[in-house]
Amino acid sequence: MAAEPTTAHSPTRSDVSESFTLRIRRYDPESGEAPYWVEHTIELEPHRSVLEGILQAKGRFDGSIGIRCSCKAAICGSCGVRVNGQPGLACHTHLDRAKATSRDGVIEIEPMGNMPVIKDLIVDMDAVHWKKVQRVTPWLINKTPIPEREYIVDRESMVDVTQSMACIQCGACVSDCLAMEVDPLFIGPAALAKSYRFVGDPRDAEQRERLMDLAEDPHGIYDCTHCFKCIEACPKGVAPMNQIMRLRRRATGDHHIVDRNNGERHEAAFVTLIKNYGLLWEAELLPRSYGGNSWFGKFAPPAGLELASSLPAITKAVMRRKVTIMGAVKPHKIPPADLKQVQAIYDEIEGRDKRIEYNLYISGRDEDNEDSPQERVEATGDAKSEDNA
Ligand code: SF4
Ligand code: SF4
Ligand code: FES
Repeated sequence: MAAEPTTAHSPTRSDVSESFTLRIRRYDPESGEAPYWVEHTIELEPHRSVLEGILQAKGRFDGSIGIRCSCKAAICGSCGVRVNGQPGLACHTHLDRAKATSRDGVIEIEPMGNMPVIKDLIVDMDAVHWKKVQRVTPWLINKTPIPEREYIVDRESMVDVTQSMACIQCGACVSDCLAMEVDPLFIGPAALAKSYRFVGDPRDAEQRERLMDLAEDPHGIYDCTHCFKCIEACPKGVAPMNQIMRLRRRATGDHHIVDRNNGERHEAAFVTLIKNYGLLWEAELLPRSYGGNSWFGKFAPPAGLELASSLPAITKAVMRRKVTIMGAVKPHKIPPADLKQVQAIYDEIEGRDKRIEYNLYISGRDEDNEDSPQERVEATGDAKSEDNA
């Protein structure tokens, strides 16, 4: 069972048509003209989709509006657009909901971001999205010898990869990925979620090689900045950022991959600083990320080089009073009683025999259930023993 899509809601069912005004961004790169906006007013029942609205505008007013679609049922992934600035599926966004979230009562529709526009609302998925998916070897690499009969996989492993298998390759997560805006070479949320589908599959012969590749790539798993945008954008509950975190936990916790991007050391530095002080101590983060988790880390030559290259940014921050020298150098600490509580969380997690991950995607969301997520998941029998800390 898939999680409830982010754009879903319970619209008031009405068979009475209403007027909705759509503001559509038009752009034809071949024309040499700059992008512009047009407005069309359509008549449809409020629970109908934005896609139906666009198609009506196309049929009634201007057949040249470019939109890609097929299934009209949130299955094929072809109608990705931005509605009022939020990426999603046009066929999965109700008109009344879109109007309610608009700035001025007009539903604004534009193409997805981070991908070049082919025409109007159609973006070039091949140029970005599919290229990145191909980058992660999106197929199972068989172990040998291949079993003569069916390869039975245990239930827990399948539950683990089901969430990434729900992806319909719509590109909504790619559209608003902040890391990709800064680094267009970042492999990105959709492709990395796809990668987890095979890394988490016990039939795959090259899990370690895949993880090594993604950890060592400067545009790989450690390029994600945890902005949550891809989780908000995904209409199928894939939560790509969570899959990226799973890839990291597998790379570090299971395969002990210490990468050249300092991703593993950087995470370890974060975890240790919070454990020791209860708060992040930025002045220690950089040296520990390069030189390891000890006081001597400060003297690691790469840490010095990185510090030197960051000096202009640090000077700017000090001049603008975003940081003070004393504030950066002095450890940030919380009251001892609070620190004890933080450390108790560490003790609890680190004291477990095995790491535990609850697959909330499979158990679904039950807003009426007052129980804790743990109780709900255990009640459905979908608790999964894996890597979580
Ligand atoms: S969480 Fe990571 S992958 Fe997802 S949108 Fe943000 S930077 Fe991109
Ligand atoms: S992860 Fe979600 S948003 Fe991204 S391509 Fe797949 S279905 Fe679309
Ligand atoms: S038309 Fe297929 S997902 Fe929207």
